[in-house]
Parts: sequence; structure tokens; C-alpha cells
Amino acid sequence: MGSATPFDRAVSQYASTTGNLTARMALHSHGTNPQGWFAWLGERLPLSGEVLEVGAGTGELWHRIGRRGRLTLTDFSPAMCARLREVPGARVLRCDAARLPYRDGTAGVVIANHMLYHLDDPDAALREFARVLRPGGRLAVAVNGRDHLAELNALGTVIGRPDLAVRFYDQNDVTAETTSARIEAAGFSDVTVERYPDELAVPAVEPILAYIASMIGPLTAAQEAATREAVGARIAADGAFRVRKHTVLVNAVRGSERFVGWGPYRRGATDTMPAT
Ligand SMILES: C[S@@+](CC[C@H](N)C(=O)[O-])C[C@H]1O[C@@H](n2cnc3c(N)ncnc32)[C@H](O)[C@@H]1O
Repeated sequence: MGSATPFDRAVSQYASTTGNLTARMALHSHGTNPQGWFAWLGERLPLSGEVLEVGAGTGELWHRIGRRGRLTLTDFSPAMCARLREVPGARVLRCDAARLPYRDGTAGVVIANHMLYHLDDPDAALREFARVLRPGGRLAVAVNGRDHLAELNALGTVIGRPDLAVRFYDQNDVTAETTSARIEAAGFSDVTVERYPDELAVPAVEPILAYIASMIGPLTAAQEAATREAVGARIAADGAFRVRKHTVLVNAVRGSERFVGWGPYRRGATDTMPAT
């Protein structure tokens, strides 16, 4: 990994392909919660008015739940933006999440689903979200806990690739454990955190191999054999390779004062407006 920053890793993961993201989304089809992530998320998003998703990827959320409100989808990646243009009725902008081409106080909702941990300066991005939201506007951020996918990360040792366990958040510490405090520090209030209940029960080795390749590139024959042996043994014993998940949705409200986030945030210093 060397000195690669979170954004360097995002560029290598996403700039020219949607394949790494879709391989990982395919793995999550083995979740045990009958309500999939996007349906669960869609029920909890305050979707009305001017809706902006940053780092929208392939736009899978909107393909699953349908467009709501006036929808703008953004991503830095040309490959992702090409896919986003397939979402009916959505406006697509290619831009960095920390530099949004929006006037102050114009968005009703900002959604950052599984993307904040890719940023070199996530706190600057949160302040940017506060800038573009109107007072009383809503922020929804989904991130993962430190134990998320622990059993998959542990396979790095098995195959002699400990870099598999290098998580996107290792440098910026954007996790379920830290994110709500950072959102408050950026000038939001009424912060709530809800965990999506799920674990993976993967009945075959192939989705695990695809996940590993999406993270670290093609496996050697020896690495593939070691994965097949380790994962196959768990499937033989338990009927599936079971993997912990830890994903939370953090919802918050943009305070009614003008942006207050540069200095130390004082709890209660910001009035809030009722949700729309
Ligand atoms: C894990 S994917 C999540 C995609 C989508 N939100 C979802 O949950 O399906 C992360 C996305 O964030 C985008 N991204 C990463 N860094 C970004 C940045 N600095 N500005 C805008 N988008 C970024 C990536 O291109 C990728 O599409």
C-alpha cells in the first residue's frame, strides 16, 4: 500500500471501472437479513425536495428504490458517472465530494453512502455538506464499524497478503465508532445512529474469491488454493462461510445558523429546524 492516501486507493479502485464495486455488492447478496441494505436504507432516508447523493457509485440505491425528489447524483469517477447516467430522471455531476458545484444552502438532503471513508479529509467534506444544505436540511451517512467483515480480512494472513486487512478507513478513521462525533463537529445536530442488522452466510467459495480480487487484484494459483481450502473447510463445517457485518446509518440535521463548523463545536450552540 505504501504511502497511498485514501483517495489514491479510491482512484485505483473506482476511476476506470465499476467492477470492483459490483463484485463487493454481489457478496452482500449473501446477507441473512431478508430486507436488503438498499431497501432498509431507502425506508430511512428523508427523501423530498432537492436530493444530492455524493459518491453515488453505480446508482444501485435508485435502481432499487426508484427516484424520489429532484435527484442529483455525483461521483469523481468517470466510470461511475457513465453508469449513473442510466438512472432515470437523475442529474449527474462529476465532482469531488469536498467541492460540490452547489450554491450555499440549496440542497434539502445530502446522502453519503459508504463513501466518507474514501476521503483524505472527511471533515472538510462534512463541512461542505453543511454548506450546501439549507438550514434544517438532512444528512445521511452510512459507514462501517472496525469489526466489519473481520473474517474476510483475516483471510489475508491465510493467503500471505496481509494488505487484504488494510481497510479504507485505516488512515482517516471514518468508522461507525467515530462518525457521529465528526458530523456534530461539522455543525450538524439531532444526530442519530442506527445499525443495519445483518451478517453474511456465503455458501460457496467463488464470491469470496471475487471479493478478495476486487480488493487486492488477481490471486496467484497458490493464493486461490489456500482460500479454497480455508473457506471450503468452514462451509463443510457450518454450511456457509459466516462473516460479521457492522454497518450504521447516521442521520443528522443541518443547524439553522449559518455554517459554524470551523471552530470547536459547542454542543447545543446550533438551533435546528424541524425535518421536512
Ligand atoms: C463504496 S462505493 C459506494 C457507492 C454508492 N454510494 C453505493 O453505496 O452503492 C464509493 C464511491 O465513492 C466514490 N468516491 C470516492 N472518493 C470520492 C470523492 N473524493 N469524491 C466523489 N466520489 C468519491 C467512488 O468513486 C465510489 O463510487
